[in-house]
Amino acid sequence: GAMAEERTLSMVTCTAPVNIAVIKYWGKRDNDLILPINSSLSVTLHQDQLKTTTTAAVSRDFTEDRLWLNGEEADMGHPRLQACLREVRRLARKRRGGSAEDASPLSQSYKIHIATQNNFPTAAGLASSAAGYACLVSALARLYGVEGELSEVARRGSGSACRSMLGGFVQWQRGERPDGRDSLAHQVAPETHWPELRVLILVVSGEKKPVGSTAGMQTSVDTSPLLKHRAEVVVPERLALMMRHIRERDFEGFGQLTMKDSNQFHATCLDTFPPIFYLNDFSRQIIALAHRFNAHHGHTKVAYTFDAGPNAVIFTLADTVAEFVEVVRRSFPPATNGDQFVRGLPIDSASLPEELVTTVVTEPVPGAVQYILHTKPGPGPQLLDDPSQHLLGADGLPRHCA
Ligand code: DP6
Repeated sequence: GAMAEERTLSMVTCTAPVNIAVIKYWGKRDNDLILPINSSLSVTLHQDQLKTTTTAAVSRDFTEDRLWLNGEEADMGHPRLQACLREVRRLARKRRGGSAEDASPLSQSYKIHIATQNNFPTAAGLASSAAGYACLVSALARLYGVEGELSEVARRGSGSACRSMLGGFVQWQRGERPDGRDSLAHQVAPETHWPELRVLILVVSGEKKPVGSTAGMQTSVDTSPLLKHRAEVVVPERLALMMRHIRERDFEGFGQLTMKDSNQFHATCLDTFPPIFYLNDFSRQIIALAHRFNAHHGHTKVAYTFDAGPNAVIFTLADTVAEFVEVVRRSFPPATNGDQFVRGLPIDSASLPEELVTTVVTEPVPGAVQYILHTKPGPGPQLLDDPSQHLLGADGLPRHCA
């Protein structure tokens, strides 16, 4: 209609969360469609602490597709990004069902500008591709007027991204179909389900990860008999068990299984040939510390998990945060930035009983932990309706850095 033709620029901004798997995804049965060899389960983290923000704009006046990542122009040609764009546009056409009347106001042939930004340093080594693709797909879907199931599209960007399309506790079902139509994320429980659950991210010192997830899991699929056994036998059992622990808010069960599954994932990395190492000495010291802490208390008070890098993610309950953070501070005294050692949700100060110090804080390693980020489970992607929060200006170019 006449109205539609008058609009020359359309812009949408969304935010999306990071997620951390407690039953890990590692290995694909289809590399192009990103179909996993096993189902996985994750906790979506709160966007107050960790989020990606993405603005997508389409205009008759744009002359080429352009992308900015944290202010730096990047290549739009990445096949996974193109797959997401293609799938959203396909859904938009399907939704329109051929009728031009209720079509999205701007043509699909118009060029697109995308700007995306993380509120956490990429250098911290926190996985950002999940939040990044979940955010991209959320923004594109809004821009082209697509609603409903979008985890299938986010999956095409990065497997773990499909789980960032929902809040709380999320399962990614591997599915059976070769076309991937049933390889989707489902919410197991909302973020309000377990109000006491807390998450501490221990950012450790060390270099960037040597082998990326995509390449690493491919080598694992090709060479690790342990991974095959894990996918066929171990994960199906553990998933059912983990769902029960979550439903019952059983921290003992949840925490133990989380640690075991992280350890098995890293065991499959060692079983890969040539082997892959994501944990470093600091990671292993954190693992040992968590076990000493739990042993001291006589039950599971903290649970660690590690992805394709050395940073530890600790699950615990609200009443344990202050004490455990003090134990970490004593065990890994901050080298510099002592005042910024703990970030995120506020943490009370705690004084440790002498006995806890002697049995748990054995040999302090200064500087091993750069900082701790305190967060909790949170909701899925959000639409920002305040136009002042767009990352692109009315000219379609990045606002702060161009
Ligand atoms: C160790 O989702 O980054 O974090 O699908 O190739 O993009 P691609 O891999 P990615 O793998 C994440 C692996 C993991 C475990 C997990 O998040 O389940």
